[in-house]
Amino acid sequence: MNLKDLLKSIKNEFQKYNLDSPCLEAEIIISEVLEIERYKIYVENIEISESKYKKIKELVEKRKKRIPLQYLIKKVHFYDCEFKIEKGVFIPRPETELLVEKTIDIYRQYFYPKKVKILDIGTGIGNISIALAKNIENCEVIGVDISKKSLRIAYENLILNKLEKKVKFLLSDIYENIDDKFELIVSNPPYIKEEQFEKLPEEVKKEPKKALIAGKDGLKIIKKILKDVSYYLKKNGFLIIEIGNNQIKEIKKIIPKGLYLLEVKKDLSSFDRIMVFKKI
Ligand SMILES: C[S@@+](CC[C@H](N)C(=O)[O-])C[C@H]1O[C@@H](n2cnc3c(N)ncnc32)[C@H](O)[C@@H]1O
Repeated sequence: MNLKDLLKSIKNEFQKYNLDSPCLEAEIIISEVLEIERYKIYVENIEISESKYKKIKELVEKRKKRIPLQYLIKKVHFYDCEFKIEKGVFIPRPETELLVEKTIDIYRQYFYPKKVKILDIGTGIGNISIALAKNIENCEVIGVDISKKSLRIAYENLILNKLEKKVKFLLSDIYENIDDKFELIVSNPPYIKEEQFEKLPEEVKKEPKKALIAGKDGLKIIKKILKDVSYYLKKNGFLIIEIGNNQIKEIKKIIPKGLYLLEVKKDLSSFDRIMVFKKI
């Protein structure tokens, strides 16, 4: 079978299983296994070895069981970096790139060229910490998480992106093991309500529950972050935090003293997604 026919047959199978982007996913699986760029599927006549063909088929079967594509190809792109990923950790989302973009803007507007310390709460595979370290010239980043597996992968990603000198990862339940103060605190915490779990897409349900769910109201972790954030922020420091759909009203009611809401950024679907607080 030539590459174009293989692509077509996988695309048709994925269509039957109602995947959102059947053609793109088929292209990605083929190009990853054959280690070629995607466009080459259309322009080159590459021989597929028996073992590579078996590997492609294996991934297609797994994808049909709704295992996220990123877990299958063990790779994810976020902001301007490549990251390793594995089953058992949260998959970075494109909307979180807004948080990175906003944090870089704040650095340039308020701190540049001064050195800043940044704390990333719930760092996952280290994607926010690493993207910030890569794009903020003068910074030191600490990323914390309660998942040992995430931290192990975050460390591998740090080496991959050659940023060991600027970033450290630490096992910590929010601020538990933190004894420093920061110019910038950032977080994309878990923010989904417990009752919503069953209604999530099958792919999302394959991600760790602790990375997604935050108690009955979805605000358990956000409340904890806000409660003590003033202590961990330096004067004139900022908290930049991602929030869930329609949570803004509740969060506005629990803004602690000494902190004010500077800005809210919407995502591409017009949901309030990023809140920016400043310590007075
Ligand atoms: C939504 S994921 C965000 C991952 C990554 N920062 C990103 O934006 O792609 C939330 C992360 O917070 C971590 N987490 C959950 N509860 C935590 C806690 N109490 N303290 C620290 N990290 C926590 C989870 O393990 C998970 O890696």
